[in-house]
Amino acid sequence: MLRVVVCVSGGGTNLQAIIDGIHNGQIRNTEIVKVISNNASAYGLERAKQNGISTACVSPKSYQVRTEFYKAFLEIVDEAEPDLIVLAGFLVTIPAEMIQKYPNKIINIHPSLIPSFCGVGYYGLKVHEAALKRGVQYTGATVHIVDEGTDTGPILLQKPVEVKSGDTPEQLQKRVMEQAEWVILPQAINMIANGELDDRIKGE
Ligand code: GRF
Repeated sequence: MLRVVVCVSGGGTNLQAIIDGIHNGQIRNTEIVKVISNNASAYGLERAKQNGISTACVSPKSYQVRTEFYKAFLEIVDEAEPDLIVLAGFLVTIPAEMIQKYPNKIINIHPSLIPSFCGVGYYGLKVHEAALKRGVQYTGATVHIVDEGTDTGPILLQKPVEVKSGDTPEQLQKRVMEQAEWVILPQAINMIANGELDDRIKGE
């Protein structure tokens, strides 16, 4: 059984897709053992509680020094004894110590086809604003391994989404979430839980 910790900062719709995937059998041999947020008002925490999943909130704002926050964050993660850490709309930088302690065991969902529209400053609506500004006909989402860069780890899964004429950033974000993020994140977790992504995880 793959023990999964999910980290959220906002609405938690990607978390919900994972919860639903476990309930409907799309994700096998997997258990969400903890949902962690940096934001006490994140609705993702409510989604976890509604499904009987243990939660924790640890915010950088509660600590004078960022390294103290990282220490507290890592302690909560370690206590959950995860096999996989999933960043599902998590807006906090992962400390290098956590990446080194959980090599190839942290994945992130990014709302573009990496290497487009990613890296520092590209998150949430900003990603879709950039795609619309560039005029791409297709965008999409990517699940990748988290390394010490920003959106630079090995790509595991991607799914393209058509950009429609007149799209607003909000309309495009909704389509990318519905048609790509909520599909490939559960798919990636299921594949990891069942040993189907090992080669890509090793970057082979
Ligand atoms: C969304 O912008 C999504 O594209 C990105 O994180 C944000 C929040 O998603 N992955 P969620 O509803 O909290 O899962």
